Amino acid sequence: MCGIVGYLGKKSATPILLSGLKRLEYRGYDSAGICVLENGALKTFKKEGPIKMLAAELDKQSLNSQIGIAHTRWATHGQPNETNAHPHYDCQHKIAVVHNGIIENFEGLKILLAKEGHKIVSETDSEVIAHLIEKFYHGDLEQAVLEAVKLLEGTFGLAVISESEKKLVAARRGSPLILGIGPDEIFIASDASAIIEYTNQVVYLEDNEIATISEQGYEVKSLDGHNANNQVTEIKWTIDEIEKSGFEHFMLKEIFEQPKTIANALRGRIKDGKIKLSVNFDAKKIDKIIITACGTSWHSALIGKYLLEKIAGMPTEVDYASEFRYRHPIVRDNNLLIVISQSGETADTLAALRETKNCQTLGIINSVGSTIAREVKSGIYLHAGPEIGVASTKAFTSQVASLILLALYIKEQISGELDQALSDELLIIPEKIQTILDQAENIKAISQNFVSAKNLLYLGRGINFPVALEGALKLKEVSYIHAEGYPAAEMKHGPIALIDKNMFVVFIVNHGPIFEKIVSNMQEVRARGGRIIAITDVKDAAVEKLSEFIITVPSVSEELSPLVNIIPLQLMSYYVASANGINVDKPRNLAKSVTVE
Ligand code: M6R
Repeated sequence: MCGIVGYLGKKSATPILLSGLKRLEYRGYDSAGICVLENGALKTFKKEGPIKMLAAELDKQSLNSQIGIAHTRWATHGQPNETNAHPHYDCQHKIAVVHNGIIENFEGLKILLAKEGHKIVSETDSEVIAHLIEKFYHGDLEQAVLEAVKLLEGTFGLAVISESEKKLVAARRGSPLILGIGPDEIFIASDASAIIEYTNQVVYLEDNEIATISEQGYEVKSLDGHNANNQVTEIKWTIDEIEKSGFEHFMLKEIFEQPKTIANALRGRIKDGKIKLSVNFDAKKIDKIIITACGTSWHSALIGKYLLEKIAGMPTEVDYASEFRYRHPIVRDNNLLIVISQSGETADTLAALRETKNCQTLGIINSVGSTIAREVKSGIYLHAGPEIGVASTKAFTSQVASLILLALYIKEQISGELDQALSDELLIIPEKIQTILDQAENIKAISQNFVSAKNLLYLGRGINFPVALEGALKLKEVSYIHAEGYPAAEMKHGPIALIDKNMFVVFIVNHGPIFEKIVSNMQEVRARGGRIIAITDVKDAAVEKLSEFIITVPSVSEELSPLVNIIPLQLMSYYVASANGINVDKPRNLAKSVTVE
């Protein structure tokens, strides 16, 4: 949600800041701005719209500065326009600030600052920060930032530049920031993808820390002024992983990467007849699991509940992180709290984790070194590589694969026995997924039939009900077509009223004990003129008769079926959205990582 880049070094800052912004555009893309210090003066350029608008403006300038800050915005307070775009200034235009997060007490601070004569020009919550720094600035930028942030309530990741000192100051509370360390240069970024082109050596700022960067190097302190000792760590992924590699969109690339990313999630974790996970809880002492997450990660949590209960016999509850954190949940010492997050930075998920101090915690996280990854007591990394498409695809399947591993691990710890058949089958799931990807052209052709649809229903049962939810979410996010997921049998308790000849209904209909029951639900839809798209692993005359379109998926055990059933749904969403000319990697109003409440 919004992106920050900063640079101080020997090279020209503008192209570096701009390329960083382009890499961060998936985090926010309604306006962007840059501020560099050149010949003792701050020069700022801001544009509404995507980064290319700002780039076109910068092309007209001949800037030659070695220090600057930049921002791409996902609007929270105030319309996306040039005034509200970052960087924001103090009254004298001598201090500029870029900010991620939300300042909750900004209205009060605005009144206070206005009384003192400050002129606030934007509608944002962020601009007050520049004026507070101005208020406290007496020749020492770091000190002024330290004083200013004492008055802030809410969350911030900040980068600050001033006309009077060749320094950058970065500060963080609740919104991620890293420093990138090169031989003669230092970067600030809200996300490593902004700087991986230049360095893979990074320092993660912790909450309530401030970093001051000058030509002499960098120094990190806590916001109460004590020196911190943050280590430099190496980022393992490379620039290639954040390139499109010939695909038209990141979303399509990431869908097609899934055989590889699932194999990465499993690699080395099923070995010598055992499940190997670096977790530090004693499964025999756990009496209940609580999983909390948001969005797509919440859907994999729902699948996790089925898996943990069915495979490991472990009672499991699932909660939206945004609800969990405010509902006074009962969490006992013997419970295990699992948080699932692709980014590891989702504000509600992080807050839910921080609510729970007394029990064991486990993160299922993609982004290495992210805040949640650092705060959980143990974790399972997905190893899916950076996910750039705003709509989560490969992270979802890696989360589900990791949850299957976890359920197998807990079962093995409790009973002493590995479910060999299921773990063997899990290892060959990447090949099965490839067979669905090989049908992409057929799925694309089917998708063309509902590019103009206004509504779709997605129905599934059991472990595939969350897959129906995820299929509907994917379509909504990237195509803006309204879609709802339901447990198939619930349809007759209300949604059936929606069925007519214009309603497309996607059924996930797999072999197994409830196959016939789902076929009955299909009958109910057809009887009312609904148009059925079946995702099925069964060659069945009734399914063929009732369905207008059929996508066949490989037959796998029920526990693994979400991994195959979701693939055609992801592809359908992608093809519908791209047929409608939508930029699927940056759908309107969304941002990759929701770091505000
Ligand atoms: O990074 P996280 O997994 O914590 O993100 C949670 C949701 O914000 C995320 O899954 C969101 O729903 C995506 N847009 C889904 O495609």
